[in-house]
Amino acid sequence: MNQPKHASHPAPVQCTSRHAAGHAAAVDTRKALLMTRKILVTSALPYANGAIHLGHLVEYIQTDIWTRFQKLRGHECWHVCADDTHGTPIMLRAEAEGITPEQLIERVHAEHSRDFAGFHVAFDNYYTTHSDETRHYSEDIFGKLRAAGLIEVRAIEQYYDPVKRMFLPDRFIKGECPKCGTPDQYGDACESCGAAYAPTDLKNPYSAVSGAPPVLKSSDHFFFKLSDPRCQAFLRQWTQQEERLQPEAANKLQEWLGAPGENKLTDWDISRDAPYFGFEIPDESGKGTGKYFYVWLDAPIGYMGSFSNFCTKKGLDFDEFWGKDSKTELYHFIGKDILYFHALFWPAELEHAGYRTPTKVFAHGFLTVDGAKMSKSRGTFISAESYLAQGLNPEWLRYYFAAKLNGTMEDIDLNLGDFSLRVNSDLVGKYINIASRSANFISKHFDGKLLDEHFADRFRLALPDLEFAADEIAGYYEARDFGRAIRRIMALADQVNQYVDHHQPWKLAKHGGKERELHVVCTALVNAFRLLTLYLKPVLPKLAQRAEEFLNIAPLHWRDAGHLLPPAHLINDYEHLMQRIDPKQIDALVAANRESLEPAAVSRQGPAVAAASVPPLPAAIDPHSPQRHAQHQQHTTPSPQPSPARGEEVSGGAFAPVIGMDDFGKVDLRIVRIADAQHVEGADKLIRLTLDLGGETRNVFAGIKSAYDPAQLIGRLTVMVANLAPRKMKFGLSEGMVLAASDAEGKSAGLFLLSPDSGAQPGMRVK
Ligand code: 2FM
Ligand code: ZN
Repeated sequence: MNQPKHASHPAPVQCTSRHAAGHAAAVDTRKALLMTRKILVTSALPYANGAIHLGHLVEYIQTDIWTRFQKLRGHECWHVCADDTHGTPIMLRAEAEGITPEQLIERVHAEHSRDFAGFHVAFDNYYTTHSDETRHYSEDIFGKLRAAGLIEVRAIEQYYDPVKRMFLPDRFIKGECPKCGTPDQYGDACESCGAAYAPTDLKNPYSAVSGAPPVLKSSDHFFFKLSDPRCQAFLRQWTQQEERLQPEAANKLQEWLGAPGENKLTDWDISRDAPYFGFEIPDESGKGTGKYFYVWLDAPIGYMGSFSNFCTKKGLDFDEFWGKDSKTELYHFIGKDILYFHALFWPAELEHAGYRTPTKVFAHGFLTVDGAKMSKSRGTFISAESYLAQGLNPEWLRYYFAAKLNGTMEDIDLNLGDFSLRVNSDLVGKYINIASRSANFISKHFDGKLLDEHFADRFRLALPDLEFAADEIAGYYEARDFGRAIRRIMALADQVNQYVDHHQPWKLAKHGGKERELHVVCTALVNAFRLLTLYLKPVLPKLAQRAEEFLNIAPLHWRDAGHLLPPAHLINDYEHLMQRIDPKQIDALVAANRESLEPAAVSRQGPAVAAASVPPLPAAIDPHSPQRHAQHQQHTTPSPQPSPARGEEVSGGAFAPVIGMDDFGKVDLRIVRIADAQHVEGADKLIRLTLDLGGETRNVFAGIKSAYDPAQLIGRLTVMVANLAPRKMKFGLSEGMVLAASDAEGKSAGLFLLSPDSGAQPGMRVK
C-alpha cells in the first residue's frame, strides 16, 4: 500500500456550546488550510426502486454542501454514492412491472442521476452496488471474516410463503402486534406501541406478498458473529472514541452495547435464500452456495465499490483511502435510522477484514413538512422530480435546508410558509439585493469599472466583519452547523444593507459632485457581494457561478476571502440573479403531489372493501425508518392479476373484480361508536361524525344526510375503514369512511349504515 503524502487529521471540534464550536472550528480550519486533507465522503445509497423525494434530499444536499466546502478550501475531497440495488423489494418490484431487476435498476439509476443533478448534488461518482467492484469487495470481506472465524452457518426457522415459494423478509409479514393487538403490523416492530419482536410472535400472520398464512421452514444461514468478544471489545472502544459519533449517537451505541461486561450484541444474519436479487455467496473453493448476501451486507460495501470504480477512472490509489493504516479521512453521512448498520456492523466488518474504519459517522434527522410526517394525501410527499417540474428553483431548497441544518440528529421541518418567507426576505431581499442596488450605478456612472485605488483599509473600516468572518463561517461549515453559517452570513448582509441605507447611493447619484463618494460606496458593495457569494457558494453553487460571471472573476476559492477585487476591476452588466418565490408556486407543488383519494364518505360503487384505496406496499427492508419505508410506498404489492368481474347483476351493481385475501387483508375494518354527529354547514349531503375506535377518535365526513338525522346516530355502533388515507375536504380532514349499503344508483332504495351484532366493542377488527 502506498503511504499517503499528507498525514492530516485535524483536531476534532470540541463542542461545549455552539458558539465555542464555531471558534474552535475556526482555529482548527485555519490549521487545516495549511495542509491538504484527503477526504472521502459518502451519502447513504438510495434504494433502486423508488423516486428521490425531499426527505432524501436533506441528506444529499447536506453532504453536497459539506464536500463543496471542503473542495473550496482546497482539500482533496471525493463524494461517492451509488444506487442500492439488491434485495427482495427490488426483485418483486421488477416482477410486478414485468421487467428484469437489471432493467429496473438501470432505469432508476438514470432517474436518480437526473434528480441529483437537478439539485446540483455533484457526486464525484454515482455508481451501483450491482457491480463487479462491489461483488469483489463483498466476497473479499466475507472471505476474510470467515478466515478470521467470524462467520458461522446456522439453520434457522423462518416464515415462508407457500404460494409465492419464497422466504419472507420481516417487512413482508404482517399480523397483529403480540403486545397491543394492533392489526397489520410488520414482522419486526409495532408502529402503534413501538414494541419490537420476531415475526413469529405476530398473531394471525399473513404474507404481504400473497396474503397466504406463512409457514415455518428451516434453512441454513450465514451469520456474522457480532457477539464474538473481539467484536465487542473493538466496538466498545471504537464507538466511544471522541468525536467518532455525535454525542446522541454515541449514547445510543452505549445503549446497544450494554454495560461493560454485558454482551448485548447478537450475531447478524447476512444471507438470504433464493429467489433473491443479489450476489451469490461463494464457498471456500469459490463455488456458489445457493445463498445470497443480504442487501445490507453489500450496501455499505457499495461505498468501496463506487470509490474503486472512481479510482480506476481517475488513477487514484484505492488503498490509500481504504487500507488498514490509511491516514486519509472517511466520513459517512446517513439518516439516524441506519445508525445501527453504520456504527456497529460496518466498522466491525471492516476492522476484522483488515480495512480502515470510518473517521466519523454523521447522522441527521428526518424531514417533516409543516410539522408533520410527509404525507401523500396532504401533498407533502414531494418528489424531487415534481419540485423541478413545477419550475421551482433547486437553490431555494438548498438554502432553506442549509438554514435548518445544525449537525445534530434532530429532525428538520420544511415549513412551506416559512420557506417562501426566508428565501424571499433573506436570500433575495438581503443578499441578491446588494448586487442589484449597486451594479447599475457602476455600469451607468463608471462604465462598469470599480474604484481606481486600493481601498482595503476603507472597506475594513466601513464593513469590518465582512472579511474577518471567513474563518468563523468556515468553522460552522466544518462542524456541519450550516444554520449557524447562514445566520452569520445573513447578519453580514444586514450590515451591508445598513451601509446602503446609510449612504443612500441613489441620492449620491442624483447630486452632482458626489460621484467619488458614489464610486466608493458601490465599490464597497460589489466587494461585499463578492464575499457573501463566496460564503454562500457551498450552498448555492449555480448562483455563485452566475455571480462570478457578473463579477467577471475566476471561480471563487475560500482563500479569496483574504483580498478584495483589484482597483479598476471591470464588472459585467447586472442581470437579475434570482427570482422570489410566488406562494402560488408552492400551492401548485402541493396540489401536484396530492394523491387523489376515494371520497371519504359512503362508497356507492359496489362492495365497500373493493372501493377502499390500496394501502402501501409493506416492502421496506430497513426496520427503523418511516421515511425510508415511505419511499417504498409508491409501489403496489405484486399480486396476481385480478380476474375480470363475473358480471352478475345484483341490486348493488355488477360485482367488482375478484380480489385475493391479500387485498382484503389490507383493509382495516373496525367497529366504531358514533360519539357525535353534526350537520355540516354548507354541505347538503354530509354529516360530520366523530367516531370512537375504543380510545382513539376520528373525524369522518359521511354522505348519509339523505338517510339519517345526526341526532339519531349518536351512540350507535357501525363499521369504518380505519386505514384509509385521510382526505382533505372543503370542511376539514376526513380520516376514514363508514360503511353503508345502497343500491346501484346510490339512494333510490335508501342508505343503510352497517351495525354489528350486540356485544361488539369499539376498536374490534372486522374480518
Ligand atoms: O436505508 C436505505 O435507504 C439504504 N438503501 C441505505 C444504504 S446506505 C449504505 F449502507 F449503503
Ligand atoms: Zn403494538
